[in-house]
Amino acid sequence: MKAEIIKLLKERNGYVSGQELCGRFGVSRTAVWKVIRQLEAEGYGIEAVRNRGYRLVEMTDVLSGAEIESCMEGGLIGARVVYYEETDSTNTRAKVLAEEGAPSGTLVVAEKQNAGKGRRGRGWSSPPGSGVWMSVVLRPDIEPSHASMLTLTAALGVSEGIYRVTGIMPQIKWPNDLVLSGKKICGILTEMTTEMDTIQYVVTGMGINVNTPEFPKELKDKASSLYLETGRTWRRGPLIGAMAFALGEYYERFLAAGDLGTLKGEYESRLANLNRQVTVLASGGEYRGTCLGIDRQGELLVEREDGTVSRVLAGEVSVRGIYGYV
Ligand code: BTN
Repeated sequence: MKAEIIKLLKERNGYVSGQELCGRFGVSRTAVWKVIRQLEAEGYGIEAVRNRGYRLVEMTDVLSGAEIESCMEGGLIGARVVYYEETDSTNTRAKVLAEEGAPSGTLVVAEKQNAGKGRRGRGWSSPPGSGVWMSVVLRPDIEPSHASMLTLTAALGVSEGIYRVTGIMPQIKWPNDLVLSGKKICGILTEMTTEMDTIQYVVTGMGINVNTPEFPKELKDKASSLYLETGRTWRRGPLIGAMAFALGEYYERFLAAGDLGTLKGEYESRLANLNRQVTVLASGGEYRGTCLGIDRQGELLVEREDGTVSRVLAGEVSVRGIYGYV
């Protein structure tokens, strides 16, 4: 009921009467009033006027299970939302939930992570109040060797969701970092659990720097946030709703095609590395080349200095721009 009341207050450009709320949810006026009081305590600015009802006067950046649910737009991701005010890592929570049978599309969000995980065993700073730290449980019927394509699909979904809310399209640094002005605003960590060569579940975790006001000196040149790039703060609820919906759309298209064939064009149009010089740090050594795009498996095509084209598999190597992070 709480999420529905939030949604109704947001949609209505005016007052919603107590009577309407009572009738809609089949509860007493006192029950409605209690929810309104809770919402006020959580940070919603609500005006209550006798004989007219309740009106949302101030939209603050509240993050709660009910707020996120009220922002969900339907689709394959987010029919179930699990919210933590603080947790170790939403990826870890999503894996536990998946082990317990959570359905595909379950969305796990935290206000704060105290053990956020980055790629290559690194940590991921996840303070409260400024970012979106979320993970999705997926149960795709694909071969484990195709799972890395999900990571590229997720990058498309997150960038699209950000674009729909902010009007600014982040670029993608292959395979799945999102960048604005050459600086990272989002990282994605995909983890997979298999059994007998079939995928049990995949957890894709996304960390988006939304309202982060500044970064420590050592990160300033490489990391940024939507706030720093656009000069204004963004409410995280609608961003989560839009990203979840877009993720669902791209996931559906990926499953229908069985690979990235139908997403390749869009992916390349957002690819920050395209036609740029990159250094590929592979286990067998390091080489330079020009990024030509991706193939339908999501491998990066790099033209080496001798004219041969190498296919770089996501997860195996690291790709760096030669002049900076991209
Ligand atoms: C990277 O190293 O670029 C990947 C960072 C992924 C961070 C996100 S935040 C939500 C989810 N939970 C985690 O512990 N990590 C991912």
